[in-house]
Amino acid sequence: MSKIIKVNIKDNPYNIYIGTEILNNIDKFHKEYFNHRSKIVIYDKILKNSVYFKKLIEKLGKNINIISIDSGEKSKSQKSLYKLYNSLFSNNVDRNSVIYAFGGGVIGDLAGFAAATYMRGIDYVQVPTTLLSQIDSSVGGKTAINSSFGKNLIGAFYQPKLVLIDINTLDSLPKTQMISGYAEMIKYGLINNKKFFSWLEINGKNIIKKNKKDLEKAIYICCKSKADIVKKDEKEKGQRALLNLGHTFGHAFERLANFRSFSHGEAVSVGMILAFKFSYESNLCKKDDLNKVHNHFNAIKLPSKISHLFKDSVKAEDIINSMKLDKKTINSEIKLILVKGIGDAFISAKINEKKLNVFLKNNGFS
Ligand SMILES: NC(=O)c1ccc[n+]([C@@H]2O[C@H](COP(=O)([O-])OP(=O)(O)OC[C@H]3O[C@@H](n4cnc5c(N)ncnc54)[C@H](O)[C@@H]3O)[C@@H](O)[C@H]2O)c1
Repeated sequence: MSKIIKVNIKDNPYNIYIGTEILNNIDKFHKEYFNHRSKIVIYDKILKNSVYFKKLIEKLGKNINIISIDSGEKSKSQKSLYKLYNSLFSNNVDRNSVIYAFGGGVIGDLAGFAAATYMRGIDYVQVPTTLLSQIDSSVGGKTAINSSFGKNLIGAFYQPKLVLIDINTLDSLPKTQMISGYAEMIKYGLINNKKFFSWLEINGKNIIKKNKKDLEKAIYICCKSKADIVKKDEKEKGQRALLNLGHTFGHAFERLANFRSFSHGEAVSVGMILAFKFSYESNLCKKDDLNKVHNHFNAIKLPSKISHLFKDSVKAEDIINSMKLDKKTINSEIKLILVKGIGDAFISAKINEKKLNVFLKNNGFS
């Protein structure tokens, strides 16, 4: 049994399937959606010996090209992308082929961007294997690689033809990665779903412990929320930017750490706390809400301070310069996703840089 969400984007509608029997039936999905078209599996090397990867390959059967990608954020690079294009060319992959992206957000973003650009675009399927990718990056068609100038700065909006979420693939995911994905899960509660945040306050620990029933429910809620937002604003002209709560800070941290040392979810986690604190200090949000969020982050052991990410001190000025490379920044004017409370996020007007500088210095930056 699987749950289905329809992503009703006008010109690019597709379905998300969520369940525990997805990989066992992937041959049927392929037949139904793509018939006899040839398949390319682009996968995270870490999964090579996993039962799920073996299942995927066994089920997809004949006419299949397999391309492995090194694990980690460093693979979202021009070098990996060109290596991937070369593998596609040397395997004679044509426009009628279908790419299966099997891995976390790194594989999904890289394979998705390759699919968007290889021969001006070929079809691809997201088969996410991390909590973060199952609730966020596999849905919505944002594909990208990083540049030395910043995170996800080279990319395309290119929707998958199908998203296949098999919760069992999380069985091998380390706890640190569950916690990292959980940061993006809380985000859905914080931006527009207070009821979900309250549910997570009670059930969050079960999610980290991989309780399948709770996972399925939470993954469904997150994907539905993202599908609803993306349907209204595919190209992030407005409301979709709310999904970036904590990300303007987080992406700046990731860039300053050269995309190493800590995970995306951890960076976003500290970023969300800063967004709540900044909102509170700007008299936008109540102390009670800030405390609730803080307490829940502590209960789940999500990082909430900059010292949790960097050993050495980080200059406020460096963070601000990095934030200026964010895609929401126009004419060097920084904008943030701020909150009026839990479940009530909005896109700010231009942020006063001096105020931001003082704020950062009061929150552990030098
Ligand atoms: N496109 C979007 O809309 C969007 C949204 C949010 C985040 N992102 C991007 O997603 C990326 C982060 O995604 P992520 O957290 O999945 O990172 P990731 O792909 O690097 O995966 C995290 C780690 O888990 C390992 N892994 C993957 N599946 C596993 C499994 N089943 N068992 C054991 N280990 C496994 C990976 O090798 C890696 O070490 C970032 O690059 C971020 O920018 C994109």
